[in-house]
Amino acid sequence: MANGPNGLGRIFIRKSVEQMHTEHEQGELKKTLGAWNLVLLGIGCIIGTGIFVLTGRAAAEFAGPGIMISFIITGTLCALVALAYAELAAAIPVSGSAYSYSYASMGEIVAWVMGLLLVLEYGLAASTVAVGWSGYVVSFLGDYGITIPAALQAAPGVEVLDAKTNEVLGVGVVNLPALLAIGAVTMLLTVGVSESASVNNVVVFIKVGVVVAFIVIGAPFVDTANWTPLIPEQVPAPPPGTDMSLGAQIWRALGDVVTAREDAPAYGMGGLITAAATIFFAYIGFEAVSTAGAESKNPARDMPIGILGSLIVCTILYILTCAVLVGIVPYQQLNNPAPIAMAVDAIGLGWFATLVKIGAIAGLSSVMLVLLYGQTRIFYTMSRDGLIPPAFAKVHPKFKTPWINTIIVGVLASGFAGFMSLDSLANLTNVGTLVAFGIICITVIYLRFARPDMKRPFRMPTAVMLPVAGLGALMCFILLMALMAHTQTRNFFLIYLVIGFGVYFLYGLSHSKLAKGEVVGGHEAKPGELPGG
Ligand code: ALA
Repeated sequence: MANGPNGLGRIFIRKSVEQMHTEHEQGELKKTLGAWNLVLLGIGCIIGTGIFVLTGRAAAEFAGPGIMISFIITGTLCALVALAYAELAAAIPVSGSAYSYSYASMGEIVAWVMGLLLVLEYGLAASTVAVGWSGYVVSFLGDYGITIPAALQAAPGVEVLDAKTNEVLGVGVVNLPALLAIGAVTMLLTVGVSESASVNNVVVFIKVGVVVAFIVIGAPFVDTANWTPLIPEQVPAPPPGTDMSLGAQIWRALGDVVTAREDAPAYGMGGLITAAATIFFAYIGFEAVSTAGAESKNPARDMPIGILGSLIVCTILYILTCAVLVGIVPYQQLNNPAPIAMAVDAIGLGWFATLVKIGAIAGLSSVMLVLLYGQTRIFYTMSRDGLIPPAFAKVHPKFKTPWINTIIVGVLASGFAGFMSLDSLANLTNVGTLVAFGIICITVIYLRFARPDMKRPFRMPTAVMLPVAGLGALMCFILLMALMAHTQTRNFFLIYLVIGFGVYFLYGLSHSKLAKGEVVGGHEAKPGELPGG
């Protein structure tokens, strides 16, 4: 299958789409998932720390009640990207998702970059969700008189707030609950417990139930005065001479105002965009449906339904949740580790606050499991392609899981969960995912010209596709710039990419099975190797 040239041109070597189709048809995975399962799979991965935690922070720090508009902006972006994903997922129904699409279209180096981005989108996202989970667990335990010391509740240097009063309790040293949560999920994945469709359905039912109940029960308590001003005035710029990051300077040059606090615009239009970029995390997961391509009964019809269906359901729930949240609690008070539970407490329904916490804890646990599982399977696929060492595809003889891979991923993810702040984790996850989404939009356009003949069971008319994918890519870029204004995020991301490229040129390039002309077993598990992969 090696169709690439020699020399540096090798980095653009491509897998053939036809080969992937053959792999799908001959694949060993059972094709059991219908449209409804796919919608539930998407919702299971989408609803998590984004809506349960980040919404409150984004409203308090950046958007105010305008957070509702931020959710509409990001929902629109995700709908555009979802259409692009739907076209690719139906045309190339394999389990490697975005990584495989890139391998088939733009070539190996782009697939490698996509692999790096997916590590942020899945691995780091799992750490982010663990930190959100920790906030709800600490709050839940606190209700029963079990207090975790402030130093063990958050990453080094992060202020720990009381979930009921927002009072500062101290400064963190390590987020122990988050670290242990990832450790526990890693153990489950190592011994082969992955979430079954029926467990996912139950968890989705609980999560959606809690969110809908919050909307319905909370709506009568909304004080519409809290919705005004919808977009609070911009916070004054820092005094001249303040050391601002390059990104912050760009924002300022664009006529926006930057807070002294965070390098990011607070309130006003700039604040809406920054909040949109922050709560982008809440939408991550709809594309996880595309990773189940190889197990879908009728990908041509069901992939678009699964991807778009789960996104539409969650967008509606999110906008209503925000409206109720900022309608009950003045936005300034929402910077809280468990804002939804706090709003319920504020209306005096203690019993319901407990249910919200239990629902959030169960829901976030399953998101962690699905994300970490996804991460191990991405490494597994990359390892079978020869781009990372074979140890990542080594399957345990008894548990039939890629155990070395799982343990490495688990140790790294729990370290990040324990020692990085929620903001840093969410920002980096968002940056990686926005770049990945942008590449997906460009891939759709590219393939229309490069492979006009390719079979596309779900095909946007060209007059629709160009604006959809073009605007999708542009919006990804705008939100990306809002996040890159944050110096630390930008530095981490750039260093990560440089290291990533280093690994490719030192290892991947010379070990690529496609480049060596070796037959690649495909992106699907074979019997006895990796059940359910
Ligand atoms: N969208 C998922 C969450 O918010 C990743 O937790």
